Amino acid sequence: MAYSEKVIDHYENPRNVGSFDKNDPKIATGMVGAPACGDVMKLQLKIDEQGIIEDAKFKTYGCGSAIASSSLVTEWVKGKSIDEAAEIKNTAIAEELALPPVKIHCSILAEDAIKAAIDDYRAKNKE
Ligand code: FES
Ligand code: FES
Repeated sequence: MAYSEKVIDHYENPRNVGSFDKNDPKIATGMVGAPACGDVMKLQLKIDEQGIIEDAKFKTYGCGSAIASSSLVTEWVKGKSIDEAAEIKNTAIAEELALPPVKIHCSILAEDAIKAAIDDYRAKNKE
């Protein structure tokens, strides 16, 4: 199967790989797995007092499309509010990366990782 140029670019030069200290109250962590293949994605967001995402990092144990999807979303979420980030759809990721049908679940993993991180943020910041 041929990967698109954008997938190859993100795969070979992934943006924002790494992790933040999960005990930092500004850090929200989303960890998700894809039942279809067993791949795992960890996405962390650094969120300021106004609910704006200042920074993002990821670690993905998975295929090229999953790595490219996570790399792309770390770029997309920066500067967005958590409500805006929650609106990011896997279809937009799949379209940007020109993912073929068998790789759509890789983009769903990235959408789910954003949602999981936001859930973690909300759970941590409940009074
Ligand atoms: Fe092999 Fe995703 S199925 S890495
Ligand atoms: Fe499963 Fe890509 S093949 S996440």
